[in-house]
Amino acid sequence: MPTYPPEPFRIKTVESIRLISREQREAALRASGFNVFSLHAEDVYIDLLTDSGTGAMSQNQWAAIMQGDESYAGARSYYRLEEAIKSIFGFPYFVPTHQGRAAENILAALLVQEGNYIPSNMHFDTTYANIRARGGRPSNLVIDAADDPTSQFPFKGNMDIEKLRSFIHEVGEQQIPFGMITITNNAGGGQPVSLENLREVAAVYREHGIPFIIDACRFAENAYFIKLREPGYENKSTLEIAQEMFALADGATMSAKKDAIVNIGGFLAMRDEKLFQRACNELILREGFPTYGGLAGRDLDAMATGLWEGLDESYLAYRLGQTRYLGERLMEAGIPIVEPPGGHAIYLDAGRLLPHISQSAFPGQALTVELYREGAIRGVEIGSVMFAHPSPETGVMVYPSLELVRLAIPRRVYTQAHLDYVVENLVKIARRRTELRGYKFTYAPKLLRHFTARFEPL
Ligand code: F0G
Repeated sequence: MPTYPPEPFRIKTVESIRLISREQREAALRASGFNVFSLHAEDVYIDLLTDSGTGAMSQNQWAAIMQGDESYAGARSYYRLEEAIKSIFGFPYFVPTHQGRAAENILAALLVQEGNYIPSNMHFDTTYANIRARGGRPSNLVIDAADDPTSQFPFKGNMDIEKLRSFIHEVGEQQIPFGMITITNNAGGGQPVSLENLREVAAVYREHGIPFIIDACRFAENAYFIKLREPGYENKSTLEIAQEMFALADGATMSAKKDAIVNIGGFLAMRDEKLFQRACNELILREGFPTYGGLAGRDLDAMATGLWEGLDESYLAYRLGQTRYLGERLMEAGIPIVEPPGGHAIYLDAGRLLPHISQSAFPGQALTVELYREGAIRGVEIGSVMFAHPSPETGVMVYPSLELVRLAIPRRVYTQAHLDYVVENLVKIARRRTELRGYKFTYAPKLLRHFTARFEPL
């Protein structure tokens, strides 16, 4: 029996949740166009749609909120955040943003030109879309092991250095305004990137004069994976590891809704003063004055406190242990997942669970709908609904290599019994898996279609 790490906190405030009846779930599914993004959250019992902005804040964060300084310019809250960002990330300049994609938008607005290429291990979908929206071409150069759900390689988020070198050679360094890496690799199973790989990536970018930007959303989870798995780091603190990671980079985009455990917030950080000045101008246009950037002062205070809490090692041991527990229980029950378990989520391998549903009939979507129908559990499809697209050259559909359903775990929110309930419902579904059928679109927008598409069962 996999072990569950006891929570390093006790619960002081609770929010009631309720399980509606099977008939009500059936009606809710029909009304949502079989898209779980369109459900009323109150009709969801265990919500694993995302770990973004869904965490439980601590008493210290709530206390910090009461101390927020709502001055338009130069608020105390801003300086507290600045201190945390400088100490942890080491970047001399940053602008607060209301969330991660706002930081990506500013970065893309300042640096991406029509026809440019932006390499990464794997871009998250908002990063991908922000680059595309400026006419750029986001390119994924993760190692091949990332596509093998049974590979036990400890750093499956790593960038393939040979692929990166030949990519730069092919497209030309002058076509690459900056290069990225996502830690941990959300689009690829929540898998970490090693410090060794970060050093190599940084060296290649530097050799070609390409600024290196880290998508830092889950930097603390990545740092703890390094502590657990990378030789030479077992006795370093997660703070030291984070400092070492970011010392390699020229900047970072951050959604604080992840590892800073806040409900809203983010930032764009950098070393280049000129770029910072341009970022401030863009920020004023889109988000707000540079000392609040689209947030309330209290949000900045919650973020400053949360950045430190997210790095706490007893919290991280529990956090990664909880995710691993869910993954190990599912594997024990014979339910295929992306192995080894990631940091913030378990990725069910719907392609392997439902081999009778073709990619064009969306096996991940079928499993996502069935999880809601069976247990009012909400996950998210990360497969052909999200990624399949007609090839720009031939018009033939290009399908992703994996059909996944992500069960993202909100931070400090659910208990062992909640996760056991998820396992029990998945076991019931797996027993009658051959009865599951695929889906087809009745509506699908062009960009980021998974959010608003509607479906009907085949
Ligand atoms: N980068 C990564 C790796 C992310 O996972 C996300 C968000 C973003 C950027 C954008 O941040 O939402 O604050 O604008 N991921 C969420 C998720 C939405 O569910 O994985 P944002």
